[in-house]
Amino acid sequence: MNAHSTTAGHPVISATGLFTPEESISNEELVQSFNAFVDRHNAQHADAIAAGEAEPLTHSSVEFIEKASGIKARHVINKAPLIDPAIMEPRHEPRGNDELSIMAEIGVEAARDALAKAGRDAADVDAVLCAASNMQRPYPAMAIEIQQALEIDGFAFDMNVACSSATFGIQTAADYVRSGNAKSVLVVSPEITSGHLNWRDRDSHFIFGDVATAVLVEDVEIAPAKHWDILGTRLKTVFSNNIRNNFGFLNRAEPETMGSDDKLFVQEGRKVFKEVVPMVAEMIVAEAERLSVDPTALRRLWLHQANAGMNRLIAQRVLGHEANADESPTVLDTYGNTSSAGSIIAFHLNNEDLADGDTGLICSFGAGYSAGTVFVRKVG
Ligand code: COA
Repeated sequence: MNAHSTTAGHPVISATGLFTPEESISNEELVQSFNAFVDRHNAQHADAIAAGEAEPLTHSSVEFIEKASGIKARHVINKAPLIDPAIMEPRHEPRGNDELSIMAEIGVEAARDALAKAGRDAADVDAVLCAASNMQRPYPAMAIEIQQALEIDGFAFDMNVACSSATFGIQTAADYVRSGNAKSVLVVSPEITSGHLNWRDRDSHFIFGDVATAVLVEDVEIAPAKHWDILGTRLKTVFSNNIRNNFGFLNRAEPETMGSDDKLFVQEGRKVFKEVVPMVAEMIVAEAERLSVDPTALRRLWLHQANAGMNRLIAQRVLGHEANADESPTVLDTYGNTSSAGSIIAFHLNNEDLADGDTGLICSFGAGYSAGTVFVRKVG
């Protein structure tokens, strides 16, 4: 393959890959640990609470979590510290600079899965995008570390658009193919969301899980006979503070606030729900019209996996009827919200059964706000 091709191409998805951490935390285990933390905290602050100087913390509930979100469990890279009521934070063995970092390691696993499925030699890939909502370090880029581990000769960079990182990555990769700047691009999304989650916050402690996905976007000329044609991609951002994380390199001068809640994921869940559902449904319908695709005839929606209720409403508005599990599959029950990887996991686990010519939609939405649509049609 020619890494310096300038011939305009047509982008397709050749294959996807998935890495799922072995360990998983059920809602029952999560709530047990959270409630033990609450009891400890309230006992430690009993005098202040009795004097009316502090509010007691409240127990979480398995029933609430499942009803409000559809989440029953989440995979994590290192379970023990997360559910230890005395820790409730991620802990990972430090690694030297000559060892593969954790984020690159799981990204490489997902990328290898996608390459094997496509029958693609890593040496024939032109570019790697590491598209995820958090990066383990600012530089050198995680993407370049993944590129090096896979022995890819080309270029790589990181990009972050929170929950929409993967779809923004797919459009970026597709644009490289369309312009002739690359013929084979890996979009890797290692999401170690256990790191940005506040495990001590009752409103959100149940939301996230860890995973890595990879999408191999290629020029149809070199793609395997069986692939997914990319009919069109569309991106949208609208500023909102309703999902926010203030962690960043300029915070290091304020050590007293480093551990405060706003340096982790915080959200106004209800507002997100109300504002994002119409925005995304309208965007999907408008894009379908632009592509001359009947939205009500879409065979399957692989929606962002944040909340089962949001997906139900968006699917209803797009399809014109209540979607069943076949039309809008969920992976929330076992994976939780995996940020930008969610819609890719849904696609990865639920696309083999579709027939030649079937049309579907990969769609993300989340912080920013940000939203991305990738309309695809099965070939072969
Ligand atoms: N256990 C038990 N009860 C809980 C609870 C928990 N863990 N967390 C909150 N509650 C209670 C609240 O105290 C509140 O009680 P009240 O009615 O007596 O005041 C009630 O449940 C409702 O809380 P609320 O935060 O309004 O829940 P919700 O129904 O809006 O569901 C979300 C919360 C986060 C699941 C939901 O808003 C959501 O998914 N929003 C979209 C999130 C999203 O997509 N974010 C993008 C992330 S990338």
